[in-house]
Amino acid sequence: MVRPARRVGFVEYAIREIDALARELERRGRRVIRLNIGDPVAYGFQPPKQLLEALARAVEEGFNGYSPSEGLPELREAVAERERRVNGVEVEAEDVVITAGVSEAISMLMAALVDEGDEVLLPSPCYPVYVPYVRLYGGIPKFYRLVEEGGSWRLGEGFEKLVTPRTKAVVVINPHNPTGAVLGEGEVRRLAEVAASVGAVVVSDEIYDALVFEGRFRSTAAAAKGVPVIGLNGFSKRWLATGWRLGYVYFSSPGGELEEVKEAVVRLARTRLCAPTPAQRAAALALKQGEGFVESVREEMRRRRDLFAKLVGEVEGLELAKPQATFYAYPRLAAKGDWGDDLGFARGLLEEEGVAVVHGRGFYDCSGDRFRVVFLPPPDVLEEAVERIGRYISRHAAR
Ligand SMILES: Cc1ncc(COP(=O)(O)O)c(C=O)c1O
Repeated sequence: MVRPARRVGFVEYAIREIDALARELERRGRRVIRLNIGDPVAYGFQPPKQLLEALARAVEEGFNGYSPSEGLPELREAVAERERRVNGVEVEAEDVVITAGVSEAISMLMAALVDEGDEVLLPSPCYPVYVPYVRLYGGIPKFYRLVEEGGSWRLGEGFEKLVTPRTKAVVVINPHNPTGAVLGEGEVRRLAEVAASVGAVVVSDEIYDALVFEGRFRSTAAAAKGVPVIGLNGFSKRWLATGWRLGYVYFSSPGGELEEVKEAVVRLARTRLCAPTPAQRAAALALKQGEGFVESVREEMRRRRDLFAKLVGEVEGLELAKPQATFYAYPRLAAKGDWGDDLGFARGLLEEEGVAVVHGRGFYDCSGDRFRVVFLPPPDVLEEAVERIGRYISRHAAR
């Protein structure tokens, strides 16, 4: 037996682990309603025509070879223009690096930033992929709390006490997965200022920036002008092109503080040659036509969000802060039951009712009474899913 490297031992991804369990049930012939995958395409959404047609054109025009490792110049230019226009972030094409999804950007960034013993502050709950990357490079993840109060999420108290001289980066995910919350401008600025006070950089993942229903989203780099911010965004969510693997990272540092980190990321980018070239060319062409299509996507998602929130409101034993953005909801089990903790609940619900959700602990949330739902299925499926969840709770809740 060949032994894998020890550092891979703590690489886990709970979202996919629940998925494996669901797959196993399906193999045994069971129907599973999947509320566990953050992929609109899996629920019948497809990228806009302008992107699909641009891909055909890109391939026919011969964009089938390697591109520069930083990305095609026309896409870097289009992305910088988009970020300036939509988010008010002052970036130029040379501040942008195109990656194979935000996932690759996270991996390259952590490799470029984190030394043994460096601390990286992450939100709890957190999109889980950040944690294994921090650890792979010898870093220490530390969590600052997002708390729910009166039906909305906000930054918890005591965040400032977590930063130390070893804090290398503070990660902001806004709009937020898994809660669907939009952080206020003041909160984002506070996070950025505290990071800057110890010379840490802010990494701001804004992949859901166009899927906001309520609340005022403000890009971190625009909210905290003067503070070095590394922004992450991409085409998976708002362009509904999850499988294309296309994202980007930009470096916003008015004082040039991020030049060396940018150079390091570019050096890393060279080792994997480039992000998919046809997709890059297509995105550059499609971006020039604007993102007007997003409005109808957002409205459809809003309708499903409204339906889901209404249905959950009728289930005894469940509470939900209505998500303001994304396509995730993060209900709380107000009832106690013989399912035990959140993982017991997710497993029991899957095995007995065939509904797949992800337990809160999969998002580094130790409260033990939450789970994440993707509310993208069509209305009839959402109705059936919530009915099954309600049935499971009423069967197992303590009386
Ligand atoms: C907050 C957040 N960041 C990054 C990603 C990964 O995106 P990509 O498909 O661009 O790798 C996701 C995917 O769910 C996400 O929720």
